[in-house]
Amino acid sequence: YIGPSGSQMGKKESIRDTARVLGRLYDGIEYRGFSQEIVNELSEFSKVPVWNGLTDEFHPTQVLADLLTIEEKIGRLKGVNCVYMGDARNNVANSLMIGCAKMGLNFTACAPKDLFPSKDLVDKCREIGKESGSIITLTDDIYLGSKNADVIYTDVWVSMGEPDEVWKERINKLKRYQVNVEVMENAKENAIFMHCLPAFHDLNTKVGKEIYEKFGISEMEVTNEVFESENSVVFDEAENRMHTIKALILATLG
Ligand code: NVA
Repeated sequence: YIGPSGSQMGKKESIRDTARVLGRLYDGIEYRGFSQEIVNELSEFSKVPVWNGLTDEFHPTQVLADLLTIEEKIGRLKGVNCVYMGDARNNVANSLMIGCAKMGLNFTACAPKDLFPSKDLVDKCREIGKESGSIITLTDDIYLGSKNADVIYTDVWVSMGEPDEVWKERINKLKRYQVNVEVMENAKENAIFMHCLPAFHDLNTKVGKEIYEKFGISEMEVTNEVFESENSVVFDEAENRMHTIKALILATLG
């Protein structure tokens, strides 16, 4: 593990130089940071497999765990209706849309229009979906969006790389998109609830408490009731991170 203070990457040494050094020392590099450009550059210059462990644009390894969880719980991937509610242009939502498009799940982004995924990415996913049968839908209508969902997925309202100042505006925009019992009841009967974690569903976190003190909201993207319900598969997802990462490493080390 090389932490932020444990290397000169980008400070005294360029990313491409660090990439070439690490590529001589290791069989693969997982980068978990902020900038997507850094992962791309590591991949271009290191000559070893580079795994994107999370950037502020994408979170592909999370989606491998999510897809495994959906398959385990629902029994198939093709034709499953996966609805993402909330900030539908964050790292997790972007990668989930790509994953759904590739594997033939229908993906609905249910969000305020200005938090829809970028047109460019939606177009790419629709193109991919032509082959897999996946349909990508964007809607700001909570009722229509969550209707017939097999999966209701959400994530934090403010993601890495965004300043604390956006909380107020984001809460106002997204409080209607909170995953609560009404949303789950509007979905299919056995719909599952998913979240990549960490989740703000109670006041047992420092940030959760701060937000409560400032804005008076004790649950954010998901209510505690849904998070703790039988339909919630969040800890299966968390466990599946390990199994899918191991499979990914095995598949790519060659
Ligand atoms: N969207 C979240 C993902 C955390 C795994 C964030 O960026 O904080």
